[in-house]
Amino acid sequence: MNIAVIGTGYVGLVTGACFAEFGLKVACVDKDKKKIAHLLHGKIPIYEPGLEEIVRRNMQRGFLRFSSDIDESIRNSLTIFIAVGTPSKADGSADLSYVDEVAEAIARNLNGYKVIVTKSTVPVGTGERIRRTILKTLANMPEDRRSTNLFDVVSNPEFLREGSAVEDFLHPDRIVIGADSEQAVAILKDLYSPLYLGGKTRFVITDMRTSELIKYATNAYLATKVTFINEIANLCDRVGSNVLTIAQALGMDGRISPKFLNPGPGYGGSCFPKDTRALCKIAEEAGYDFGVLKAVVEVNERQPKMMVEKIKQATKGVRGKTIGLLGLSFKPNTDDTRESPAIAIARELRRAGAKVKAFDPAVAEPVRKELRGVTICPDVHSAAKGADALVIATEWNQFRNLDLPKLKKLLKTPLLIDLRNIYQPARVREAGIEYVGMGQR
Ligand code: UDX
Repeated sequence: MNIAVIGTGYVGLVTGACFAEFGLKVACVDKDKKKIAHLLHGKIPIYEPGLEEIVRRNMQRGFLRFSSDIDESIRNSLTIFIAVGTPSKADGSADLSYVDEVAEAIARNLNGYKVIVTKSTVPVGTGERIRRTILKTLANMPEDRRSTNLFDVVSNPEFLREGSAVEDFLHPDRIVIGADSEQAVAILKDLYSPLYLGGKTRFVITDMRTSELIKYATNAYLATKVTFINEIANLCDRVGSNVLTIAQALGMDGRISPKFLNPGPGYGGSCFPKDTRALCKIAEEAGYDFGVLKAVVEVNERQPKMMVEKIKQATKGVRGKTIGLLGLSFKPNTDDTRESPAIAIARELRRAGAKVKAFDPAVAEPVRKELRGVTICPDVHSAAKGADALVIATEWNQFRNLDLPKLKKLLKTPLLIDLRNIYQPARVREAGIEYVGMGQR
């Protein structure tokens, strides 16, 4: 069974490579010819553990190919996954122009029954919009070029996380399939059969509109959970309680679960910020005031500023001071800086008159332009040298075991501000370094 995956971003590349790993013939398609040329040489544009290996292996054994010929790839496939970008428009709603383009291309190349699957996070009603676009394009085509009008549209949202995307694809908590055709559901289940043969993977089979909302509801719920614990940490700082113990106790409650309860400088990345805003917009357009989610978006936008206030307080003002910043990506194991709170903090510190020296294990060149005025350092020690404080913004593993005595010597003022709570305060203080954490003393 041939598959075409349109769009070679995070979701598309991981989906294509993993289906090829299952032994299916996959064509990953992108209109960006330069990107395809790089991929053909085995160059993966993103930093994702395990992905390069799967891509190489499956290219070699002929299960995975890359192409910029969307027409040919559609004609040769039974199933077409749409994994193109749905960027935020200025009003927060999702821009569907790339999805529309793909739907038109599918209509032009419909040479037999096909299943069209949305993998990108798309607003409720997008599946129906794709169906309408295909039918409209078909209706405008000369009759001799139309060989069939048989197709099904399916919503099959992806829940993968950056940094563990391959692992998440191969071990999903559930697979959601939204469709109104039994045939399409059966084809999708068949594609995923290597995952459920072990009996562990659960399916949620539903209609398209419900499936589309499941993806937003999941991300919005997790973003809310992170924001909630961030607010509890901010409160702990003010009333002297310990957020770690609170999170532990919350997590012990079976109704809550211990995951996504680590306080930090705010959620970032390519999904949570975009999807929470898009869901607010979806609600607004449906005439519903989604109060909780609006507050989550607002509180999260405030969080990096709160972190800068924390830094100002600990350093007794940052104007003219030097701040060493560890981590620029929005989370560890990725070079992605989209909506990264670390970047927001660096900018805000500059605005407040501080000199910023930053180090990130994966991010360097691309952010240089974005972070004008910030010195990008080659390692932790050069970021710390002569600084009035060292701030941990992203919890990379290599920041968990820093040489504290050496840092004490390098820092102008021995002060560690740990915005991810990866250190035990006592351990840092024993090394003669003042410690400021998140909601703990
Ligand atoms: C997320 C969803 O988890 C995934 O299912 C969806 O497909 C895409 O969006 P991702 O953006 O890769 O994945 O990152 P994730 O690991 O979920 O973290 C999101 C943000 O929340 C990060 O900025 C992270 O630092 C923050 N976070 C997460 C916390 O601050 N504390 C936590 O306890 C968990």
